Amino acid sequence: MGYKMKIGIYPGSFDPVTIGHFDVIQRSARLADKLIVGVLDNHTKVNLFTAEERVNMIRQITKEMHNIEVEAFTGLLVDYAKQKNADIIVRGLRATTDFEYELQMAQTNYELNQGIDTIFLTTNVEYSYVSSTLVKEIGSFGGPIEKFLPDNITEYVKEKFRKDKSTKLPL
Ligand code: PNS
Repeated sequence: MGYKMKIGIYPGSFDPVTIGHFDVIQRSARLADKLIVGVLDNHTKVNLFTAEERVNMIRQITKEMHNIEVEAFTGLLVDYAKQKNADIIVRGLRATTDFEYELQMAQTNYELNQGIDTIFLTTNVEYSYVSSTLVKEIGSFGGPIEKFLPDNITEYVKEKFRKDKSTKLPL
């Protein structure tokens, strides 16, 4: 029997991508032959960054990695996974507070498509409190968001807050 390439999908909003997400990206890229980072482009959800900006930030921080693809997706995650021939959905679990929502999502996705399993990586304790929502809140008050962001996108995110001072904050 030939070897089947394991394709993983790491889906999320990534508004913006944090050091916690980046940790999950690096670790899951070692588990799968190919990792697709899927950025949800959902027009009913208000994001600070456009899908294109969110994709570009992730491309920027993963440009030295060779088995990663980053793109936006719309619609159901399981349909996107099937279209990409992915076997695995990867999600990070920071703390027990993430658990109920993640469990429900994983079980729903399994109900929708039994060919795709969800695996969870427990996030590095160092980053377990980091969230995009808090980055946006701190950034909107001009606080030090560089602690929570991969180095090479920090300036870009700060610039967004400088420009978008008047924008109502999407949390
Ligand atoms: O970073 P987030 O916002 O926690 O990611 C949530 C995401 C994108 C994984 C989830 O909302 C999703 O998969 N949305 C696509 C629509 C879908 O498939 N919904 C059913 C999932 S139970």
